[in-house]
Amino acid sequence: MTATAALDPRPSIARARRAVAQLFRREGLATPELDARLLVAHALGLDHAGLAAQSARTLTEAEGDAIAALAARRRAREPVARIIGVKEFWGLDFKLNAATLVPRPETETVVEAALDVVDRSHGRGRALRVADLGTGSGALLLALLSELPLARGFGTDLSPEALGCARDNAVALGLAARASFLACDFGSALEGPFDIVVSNPPYVAHDDIASLAPEVRVFDPRLALDGGPDGLDAYRTITMTARKLLSPESVLVLELGQLGAIERLLPAAGLVAIGGPRHDLLGIARALVVKLLP
Ligand SMILES: C[S@@+](CC[C@H](N)C(=O)[O-])C[C@H]1O[C@@H](n2cnc3c(N)ncnc32)[C@H](O)[C@@H]1O
Repeated sequence: MTATAALDPRPSIARARRAVAQLFRREGLATPELDARLLVAHALGLDHAGLAAQSARTLTEAEGDAIAALAARRRAREPVARIIGVKEFWGLDFKLNAATLVPRPETETVVEAALDVVDRSHGRGRALRVADLGTGSGALLLALLSELPLARGFGTDLSPEALGCARDNAVALGLAARASFLACDFGSALEGPFDIVVSNPPYVAHDDIASLAPEVRVFDPRLALDGGPDGLDAYRTITMTARKLLSPESVLVLELGQLGAIERLLPAAGLVAIGGPRHDLLGIARALVVKLLP
């Protein structure tokens, strides 16, 4: 791909950025300007301010080639977060690898719901026990630990590579002393009770994966997406093991998924939803807070 060179062999940084954005726009990418800015900045090792400050500088040939290489990856639908290897979640930077889902902004709804429960019992200063089932990059667990200074927690995953990434993120965020990670089937190896259990499990119905955007279908790990024939396999496992993880005072906060179908799983598992679902910024029911049935 010679996006920048084809238009001008030695463009300025600003001109190269505009050329890449135009290319992305023609490809129908959703956020062409933002993607171009992030990729050009990454290729040049600049932050937002540096990119602006140096916008009139002429690119070297090597810099032009580096930008072109990253633009080619994005045109092949690799998400920007995977190309640059980092995604911001809850204001924190999470490194990613091939085994981790790119944390989604809507998943912050789970963090908000969990913190609301903590705040209702004035629990931020308590030594809470937190568990994150299917932790991936560690996004949910580490976001919660960043808000709860005395809390400790476990993140589980089936993928050792994902757990390695989560551990690295815990270290980078200064949270490693309070975060442990272990390989197991959701909560199977954990000993309760926990004060807060959170999970954003895989919830795409198996046959729906083929129709997902290539950014997700090709680049997110299958283990992070595939929820089985009806998208509910993980919810069945998690709800059936929730009893050993919860106390009468504690909560399980689930990312949704299919609200009605998940609510119907609860009674047989001895669980009940508290209040309605919490909605994300797009107005979609995104998180459900669940307790043990009295
Ligand atoms: C949708 S991703 C969520 C990742 C992360 N919690 C987030 O919100 O960005 C689901 C995660 O569950 C993990 N997973 C899938 N099946 C699992 C299982 N049976 N036990 C534990 N983790 C599992 C996947 O590897 C993946 O990291």
